[in-house]
Amino acid sequence: MKGENIHVKLGRKDILHGVDFDAEPGKVTAIIGPNGSGKSTLLKALSGELESYGEISLNGHSISELKPWQLAAMRGVLPQSSTVAFPFTVLEIVRLGLANGLAAADDSLPSRALAHVDLAGFEHRSYQNLSGGEQQRVQLARVLTQVWDVTYHDQPRWLLLDEPVASLDIAHQFTVLGVARNFAKQGGGVVVVMHDLNLTALFADYVYVMSEGSVWGSGTPTAILNDQTMLQVYGIDLPISTLPNAQVPFILPQAMRQTLTA
Ligand SMILES: Nc1ncnc2c1ncn2[C@@H]1O[C@H](COP(=O)(O)OP(=O)(O)OP(=O)(O)O)[C@@H](O)[C@H]1O
Ligand SMILES: [Mg+2]
Repeated sequence: MKGENIHVKLGRKDILHGVDFDAEPGKVTAIIGPNGSGKSTLLKALSGELESYGEISLNGHSISELKPWQLAAMRGVLPQSSTVAFPFTVLEIVRLGLANGLAAADDSLPSRALAHVDLAGFEHRSYQNLSGGEQQRVQLARVLTQVWDVTYHDQPRWLLLDEPVASLDIAHQFTVLGVARNFAKQGGGVVVVMHDLNLTALFADYVYVMSEGSVWGSGTPTAILNDQTMLQVYGIDLPISTLPNAQVPFILPQAMRQTLTA
């Protein structure tokens, strides 16, 4: 998946100012950055859901030339938040993924996808009565149902996830990131917006850092998650360390405790 010189204008406001982006199948590519920096806007542009200027291609095809059903067959999108206005059951929501992705209409997929996100047996529950984290996992099951096989006509499929673990407890964060990691391991592409920098360091192969509608920098977690990024992008003086045997950078918020105890 590649984006060159992506511009997005919403209303009268320029939101993205010429973003270049490249993600490889088989890898997890994370997008991080402060609130309002343009992460969700970039993900929506890459998914083809939002009008943009510049060039975006998916497996070498310009997305502007792909029909909606072709896009649906090649990539699944988990939005940052989803509102469901009608009293659907969980199964009805997850089954939407079947219609969307032409996934050979295997009727067992929704239940298998629910089991993957630790919601086995939730099929007939009312979606509206679920907790926030359960609803988020139902939406992920819908997306997984859509792109169940990691290839489509020998081309990789893509998971585009906007903060998939934002409202999950620590155990389910690992469940969901494990599902995404496994998708990449099998050859699919994963692009994921994240806020938790420690999980990003553990999970991502490559990281884009957004700031004010542009790419501030990119690199492997080890290369890009450093003191300078914390200061220049987030405006906080928070030293980054490295776990002794893991070579993974980690951020210890305890160093900021003076801001909470004043
Ligand atoms: N429809 C719109 N009209 C005008 N401005 C918009 C619109 N949608 C988003 N914006 C602005 O675009 C900027 C980028 O928004 P975006 O949702 O991409 O941020 P984000 O990086 O995903 O932030 P967060 O971490 O809070 O989810 C923000 O300043 C937001 O206010
Ligand atoms: Mg967002």
